[in-house]
Amino acid sequence: MSEPADRRYGPATLPRARGPFSAAVVEALRRPPHDLPADLGVDLDPADPFTDEDLQLTLFLCYELHYRGWLGVDESWEWQPTLLALRARCERVFEAALRRLVGAPPVPAAGVAAGLAELVAADNGPALAATLQRRADLTQFREFVAHRSVYHLREADPHSWALPRLGGPAKAALVEIQTDEYGNGRLDRMHAELFRRTLDRLGLDTGYGAHVDVAPAVTLATNNLMSLFGLHRRLRGALLGHLAAFEMTSSLPNRRYGNGLRRLGFDEVATRFYDEHVEADAVHEQIAAHDMCGGLVRAEPALASDVLFGAAAGLAVDRLFAAHLLGSWAAGRSSLRAPAAPALPPRVSLVALPAVAPPAPPALV
Ligand SMILES: [Fe+2]
Ligand SMILES: [Fe+2]
Repeated sequence: MSEPADRRYGPATLPRARGPFSAAVVEALRRPPHDLPADLGVDLDPADPFTDEDLQLTLFLCYELHYRGWLGVDESWEWQPTLLALRARCERVFEAALRRLVGAPPVPAAGVAAGLAELVAADNGPALAATLQRRADLTQFREFVAHRSVYHLREADPHSWALPRLGGPAKAALVEIQTDEYGNGRLDRMHAELFRRTLDRLGLDTGYGAHVDVAPAVTLATNNLMSLFGLHRRLRGALLGHLAAFEMTSSLPNRRYGNGLRRLGFDEVATRFYDEHVEADAVHEQIAAHDMCGGLVRAEPALASDVLFGAAAGLAVDRLFAAHLLGSWAAGRSSLRAPAAPALPPRVSLVALPAVAPPAPPALV
């Protein structure tokens, strides 16, 4: 099931709008760069920014211009001033909501690495990983993989924004982590490519951004959070804190995801992405907390509280994501948005999931 190169690596197809702001942006992006109207005639005041489809998609549309861009969209949109102004309005709402959600975690006397460990220890979110390991059926597992594909197909890219913003020990530690994420320069070992094989094994579209259209606001929020931190140098501490929390909460859940796929009969090609993270992230979490975040704060002590804010924000938004999936499944619903007409390209549809049979177990000899 190989994909044409352009679909594998992006750019992705523009998703459908979800409200007035994303409609204005989608409509504008289809044309050459031009000024957006200063007033779109509606307020930007969502009741819950994390589940507001219009806000999160608008942010995602704007941010993607800094990654692979959108298919057929003029690349000059990336720095169009009025679009950047609209993005900034959305970012103010999103960042304020993040700060309301987690406050300013105190920096313990023992230092930032201890503060990260405390946040992770207190993170008793919904049991998504245990559910995927023990109970999720194939449809639910495929939904989970489709959600996560928005990030995993560009795994590590948002945190790479920090590289030119750092020097010294923090930079060296980040490079060490990112080198692994990018497979030490080997395409077949890049984590994004390992994940593509998982998608393929599960019979899902492996194209870059293929599942954005069915990813709900909370899934986009987990991605927008990284882009917000990554694209603003003032938030570099939060970006590194986010990465540290990510690495520190990765090893055990990834073991569970891999075991869940094995329970469903999948082979090591499908589980390799998860298996790889069990050991890699047990190492990465040490580097991230002590060398990377510790190194940053030794160089710039004023950033300690930002590091913990970024970590807490990442953990909190991930809890919202987990609660959405588990809540949807408990209610007997799909956790994905339903794609609608116009028809999406073949293999993108998750309403009528294409049949996939797990690989046959190896013959016993
Ligand atoms: Fe990874
Ligand atoms: Fe990692």
